[in-house]
Amino acid sequence: MARGDQLFYTIARVAGGVAVSTLVPPVHAVAVRGLTKVYAASGQSPSREALKAIDLAIPRGSLFGLLGPNGAGKSTLINILAGLVNKTAGEAAIWGFDIDRQTRHARSSIGVVPQELNIDPFFTPRELLDLQAGFYGVPAGRRRTAELLEAVGLSSHANAYARTLSGGMRRRLMVAKAMVHAPPVLVLDEPTAGVDVELRRQLWDHVRELNRRGTTVLLTTHYLEEAEQLCDTIAIINHGQVVACESTRSLLGQLDSKELAIVVDRDLTEVPAALAALAVEEAVKLEIGRRLVVRYRPSRVRIDTILAAVQAAGLGILDLTTEEADLEDIFLTLTRGSDGEDREGSGGSPLDTPASGAPGLGGSAGGGQTHRP
Ligand SMILES: Nc1ncnc2c1ncn2[C@@H]1O[C@H](COP(=O)(O)OP(=O)(O)OP(=O)(O)O)[C@@H](O)[C@H]1O
Ligand SMILES: [Mg+2]
Repeated sequence: MARGDQLFYTIARVAGGVAVSTLVPPVHAVAVRGLTKVYAASGQSPSREALKAIDLAIPRGSLFGLLGPNGAGKSTLINILAGLVNKTAGEAAIWGFDIDRQTRHARSSIGVVPQELNIDPFFTPRELLDLQAGFYGVPAGRRRTAELLEAVGLSSHANAYARTLSGGMRRRLMVAKAMVHAPPVLVLDEPTAGVDVELRRQLWDHVRELNRRGTTVLLTTHYLEEAEQLCDTIAIINHGQVVACESTRSLLGQLDSKELAIVVDRDLTEVPAALAALAVEEAVKLEIGRRLVVRYRPSRVRIDTILAAVQAAGLGILDLTTEEADLEDIFLTLTRGSDGEDREGSGGSPLDTPASGAPGLGGSAGGGQTHRP
């Protein structure tokens, strides 16, 4: 049985039900219902509804990605789960334990790496992990300090002052710190922000390994590639609402759009008539002299129909590439047109890419709250 499952045996706290200790691990590692947060007005700032009655269920064992633009409400959600922010309304359960009624169990079921790094600079990584373990009441004989330091690649810095660690090392130390009580649920708020490519991959491996061994992982990220590579399920949150929640595969599969670039054997000044005839709904873009870019819907047009139209126009095909829609297209489609008041800062993340004419979504999206722009 996975390690996460051994810690607490509870039945899933089905919405409206009551958590019951039993030998059955929960279906959902985290479940929130109608979760609402309104930050009160202060000074010049008006009150702000950061979460608008969201429902979210994170299956036990998943590696779950929470995406959304700046100010969408991701950290607010995580901080409520961590007990750092008080919710205004709604319910939340961690590993089947209600955060209000079974606070202690809920807290010990979760490890959180917050977005802001808060490490006491005058302690060494070993001391910090020991302190944290003590804080959670883990007896000295059951502490896994050395193992955790090893897992995050900090063994050789075990006795160095935390202030001498680099930013990436500090973030890894935070991951170890969140794991000292071996919680079945690990929450990482932007775990790889500011971490270099090599270390990011190491962290991914570590997170994958933790997940493989049974820890349910919830992470937020601004790197869409990270979510695509790492997460089996993705929720997109925008303006405090969940706008999509489903498996990464089905999320990626639902954008009915492909791009075909064809290099032809002569310069063109306009779209050939045979191709233009195809472009009833599908955009046919002529990019440069010899390069035709065809954005089309695979559910409506077959690639051989497009190629036949090119040949019917008397053009020879010298080269051909296709491009699938990726998470960025989907993300932009779902959050496009909302770069308004709620979005804060810029930070130069991939999510700051300007919206490019991504078409509307095709297939159905599960999760019950999917919204189409
Ligand atoms: N302590 C606070 N007091 C008042 N407003 C807050 C507070 N914390 C967050 N907010 C507001 O709540 C909204 C959601 O913020 P939150 O930090 O949850 O977003 P986020 O999705 O984590 O964004 P980012 O990607 O920038 O980390 C924002 O409008 C933010 O300004
Ligand atoms: Mg945040």
